Amino acid sequence: MNTFKYIDGSLHCEGVDLSVLEEKHGTPSYVYSKKTIEENAKAYVNSFTNTRNLACFAVKSLSNLSILKIIKDAGCGFDIVSGGELHRVLSIGAEPKKIIFSGVGKTKNEIQQGINSGILSFNVESESELYRIEKIADDIESPAPISIRINPDIDSGGHDYITTGRKGDKFGISDTRKVIDLCKYAHQSKNLKIVGLACHIGSQILDLDGFMKSADKIFELADELENFDISLEFLDLGGGLGISYENEVPPSPLDLISCLEDKFKNRKERLILEPGRSISANAGVLLTKVEYIKDNFLIVDAAMNDLLRPSLYKAHHDVCNVKDKKDNLKKWNVVGPVCESSDFLAKNASLDVHEDDLIVVKNAGAYGFVMASNYNSRPKACEILIDGDQSKIIRQRETLDDLLEKEKIEND
Ligand code: LLP
Repeated sequence: MNTFKYIDGSLHCEGVDLSVLEEKHGTPSYVYSKKTIEENAKAYVNSFTNTRNLACFAVKSLSNLSILKIIKDAGCGFDIVSGGELHRVLSIGAEPKKIIFSGVGKTKNEIQQGINSGILSFNVESESELYRIEKIADDIESPAPISIRINPDIDSGGHDYITTGRKGDKFGISDTRKVIDLCKYAHQSKNLKIVGLACHIGSQILDLDGFMKSADKIFELADELENFDISLEFLDLGGGLGISYENEVPPSPLDLISCLEDKFKNRKERLILEPGRSISANAGVLLTKVEYIKDNFLIVDAAMNDLLRPSLYKAHHDVCNVKDKKDNLKKWNVVGPVCESSDFLAKNASLDVHEDDLIVVKNAGAYGFVMASNYNSRPKACEILIDGDQSKIIRQRETLDDLLEKEKIEND
């Protein structure tokens, strides 16, 4: 559902006029709709007919604590990829048995942190990682639950940088013999407990084919493991469902889950998914002000350090006015103040604008604030949560002093 809409000629998020937010909190700001986050998370949770199945929200897509709490309360678990993300989800009271730890480079400390927290599983991405987990589990005398992430050699389509399931991508293990051998090894290890198989083939996926093929590959492997008396608790098919940035028509969570549950109907393993973008993207916008107009450039106060996706992937984000005006539409390149030609938020955006006007960059909830940096010594934007007619700051705008906080002048 779209909770961003014009009311009396001004763009609102739920019941709050975005132009009021500028007066209260300044710009640039990330603005999220609580209702949309909740609805998107529940679209997964409520689509499962088997209540043992679980959606683990990919924290990397949007990791603000207030947002994570909303997603937890909607019934999701979490997919994490670092000790930092583990710290975040534990601090909002996530149930350890609903936490999956993915990622190719888990450090010793992170593994220790995961075992000590009692997470559901580590998605193991290499042979070396498996031995490292086993050793740490032995040292701290606490067996570690693991699943092997396979690389199914499936091209999910989409941008090269976010396709992860092709042979040659750094993720998972592509040699099926090796997967079987590692599972057998883990099965007889007193320090490991093999609980699942996992895969994740990419992001912004627009059809279900890849998911179905991944399920087939995973089923084949799980069936072979049964021959060695290895029974798995779950099969994790990752995240990746796309959203509509530019008129794409992605399948819904219900479409995905109905097809998968149909495939799973004679199986005893639970289904786990790791959705990120499809829960967080359309729940957030980046609110920014036009500072200057020059030629066909709108120079705004947000930049690539706030929202990197256009610069990094040439990703398209719709841009629109906060005040609903269409009399003087012109094509604009929306750019930030950062000293790089790649610093743009949108190209050829059709807008009727003047200096000091507010505009929003849409679908910025996923991989938006989480990829922000302090490049050009720019303090990070604030994050605001809208709940009905209330707006609440859920992360303060950084100050100039924050920028210097960790540094010191040597010999001073
Ligand atoms: N699980 C794993 C293991 C992942 O690596 C990812 C995303 C997800 C789940 C969630 O995928 P989603 O449902 O959000 O597509 N920065 C890029 C996207 C990178 C995705 C990385 N992995 C972007 O802005 O498009």
